[in-house]
Amino acid sequence: MEISALARSILETMRARPRRLRARPWIRDLVAEVGLAPSDLVLPVFVCADDAPVEVPSMGARRYHVRELRDLSRQCSELGIPAIALFPVVASELRSEDAKYAFTDELACRAIAEIKAATRDIGVITDVAIDRYTTHGQDGIVRDGVVLNDESVEILAHMAVAHARAGADVLAPSDMLDGRVEVIRSVLDATGHPDTAILSYTAKYASVQYGPFRDAVGSTAGFTSSLGPEGKKTYFMDVRNREEALKEAMLDLDEGADLLMVKPGLAFLDVIQMLAEKTGVPIAAYQVSGEFSMIKAAASAGWCKYEDLLIETLVCLRRAGAKMIFTYGALDAAKILQARR
Ligand code: PBG
Repeated sequence: MEISALARSILETMRARPRRLRARPWIRDLVAEVGLAPSDLVLPVFVCADDAPVEVPSMGARRYHVRELRDLSRQCSELGIPAIALFPVVASELRSEDAKYAFTDELACRAIAEIKAATRDIGVITDVAIDRYTTHGQDGIVRDGVVLNDESVEILAHMAVAHARAGADVLAPSDMLDGRVEVIRSVLDATGHPDTAILSYTAKYASVQYGPFRDAVGSTAGFTSSLGPEGKKTYFMDVRNREEALKEAMLDLDEGADLLMVKPGLAFLDVIQMLAEKTGVPIAAYQVSGEFSMIKAAASAGWCKYEDLLIETLVCLRRAGAKMIFTYGALDAAKILQARR
């Protein structure tokens, strides 16, 4: 039989035509399984002292002076972005072996106060980790080449109370040290902050995709002289593991976490999906600095359009099961979504 005739005769009998539901934008919208709205986004903000430089050498994001936060939070509020995640950048003179700045974390506390002074509509999420305050950039106190767990968690406890006192709504421990959620929950409750929530970075991988962030907060300096990125592998998860994320999630929930984070996002969609299906708590995904930089780089090379790639990656994170997404593109995405409505 002639090939075309055969093909046609078979197709004539086909009743299933899935393309019916893709024919026009309105029907695609109607049948879409997930949506993406500004209210799904969290804006990570690098905040620095008012006299510090705001440029970041990589990644196409900038730092904000503390005094700029009022405007920025009003902007988020107008765009419908529900929360800001703060990442203070302190001067290198304030960093030390014992991370003593973390006990009070003045810059974070000032930043929280500025946002709260501008608007009560915006939630403030703080990063509870000491990598920005140690001279070597590790998320813990280092002794004899080892990142100590318990001594470091003790510092997190002080840091958490300082953030809660300053008015933070959600504390996000991001270092994967053992027992931190239990300790933070206990000290918050004991100091009269039972309503402060904990978003635990539960499956934070020892990824190579955090490089531009470390540029932005200046936490790579010591990597050359001490433990280096290898040290991070002693507390962040191995990228080869999936089941371990479930174990970490169960521990964190048991210890009192309200929300769980998977980080990075796009390369870990399977982990997001697993935790979304198995834990029953809202899962946050972090589109990290390396991912965001890749989007920017592809766009500046002319390989993909920035707006389209940003929205597509965010939609894919939502499809995998992320309830909320931390992205440096939150302001842009919110504007794009508004314009497309
Ligand atoms: C602090 C922290 C890091 C990031 C978020 N919180 C850096 C790191 O763990 O080295 C990375 C975020 C990003 O790459 O966008 N522990």
